Amino acid sequence: MLDNQTIILGIESSCDDTSAAILKNSTILSNVIAGQKVHELYGGVVPELASRAHQQNIVPVVDAALKKAGISLKNIDAIAFTCGPGLLGSLLVGTSFAKGLSLGLDIPMIEVNHMYGHILAHFIDETSTETGILKEKPSFPFICLTVSGGHTQLVLVKGYLEMEIIGSTIDDAAGEAFDKTAKILGLPYPGGPLIDKYAQEGDSMKFEFSKSRMPAYDFSFSGLKTSILYFIQKEVKKNPDFIKEELVNICASVQKAILDSLFFKLEMAAKDLNIKHIAIAGGVSANSGLRARLQETGEKLGWKTYIPKFEYCTDNAAMIAIAGNFMYQKGIFADQSVSAKARMVF
Ligand code: KG4
Ligand code: ZN
Repeated sequence: MLDNQTIILGIESSCDDTSAAILKNSTILSNVIAGQKVHELYGGVVPELASRAHQQNIVPVVDAALKKAGISLKNIDAIAFTCGPGLLGSLLVGTSFAKGLSLGLDIPMIEVNHMYGHILAHFIDETSTETGILKEKPSFPFICLTVSGGHTQLVLVKGYLEMEIIGSTIDDAAGEAFDKTAKILGLPYPGGPLIDKYAQEGDSMKFEFSKSRMPAYDFSFSGLKTSILYFIQKEVKKNPDFIKEELVNICASVQKAILDSLFFKLEMAAKDLNIKHIAIAGGVSANSGLRARLQETGEKLGWKTYIPKFEYCTDNAAMIAIAGNFMYQKGIFADQSVSAKARMVF
């Protein structure tokens, strides 16, 4: 406790980013993220290498977050950590670190669901750089399209800790669709940001790919991936330079196909549930096409839309700290028997 304010240390280690953040009430004082370059060589995250890198990074990252925030360990009220879902070996590093620190400092620890973190990042205080005014936060109920490398979900958010998944992917996540397409095109991992970059210069109507239509609010992206693969193989046979010559148009067309699938279900759910407060979250919400389309669709359909700051889209500990704070206020704590969970439901 510092000047009667709650200070939370957030820790995130679910995949290939080691991150630590310091939260004071709803304000982020620091959010340090160490990525792992080692996976680029392999075209995807190698779990064993990810856990080793977390092990090396966790102490320096937490140290850096404390220093940047100007906070010492004795000022921390609680430690919030990601306990799942994610890669088990990666999660174990953050979980074990939180357990040790909680014992050492004799303060509570809070187990946070990574997906709650992505959504609750919308409740971090943010002041507009132009107006200096605090950015508006979503009001309940709202629908959050949560799109990351591991998940694609439509979540009905009824309260800070009251969420219901109303639709999800039955196979690949949207982020995987971006990354796998990038791999087919010979681009390095993670391919999502690169497809985004090239798509901005391309014609999204140039190529059409088959889209799956799942029942209700569910998604499927594995058919799209196969259709892209077959299309590229066929075209490269005719012209070996096809990818090079058409890269920007392929990226723009693939991105459009993914966004079309996401928005078809998002619009359907918003209409059926008569909800006009719509948010996006997760790594893919950093996509410039997705951000622009949400704004356009929102204007057309009279939605109030919420787009997270870039820094809080991909994996980070700030989102874990804010989610932890809501649990802290309710006294929801974990004990030393807590374990990391590769799979975790809401
Ligand atoms: O949330 P996140 O950092 O990690 C998981 O929880 O999975 O999401 C990572 C995913 C990756 O698939 C990455 O390619 C994708 O988010 N991503 C993007 C963009 N930035 C990150 N996809 C499309 N456009 C982007 N700008
Ligand atoms: Zn994530």
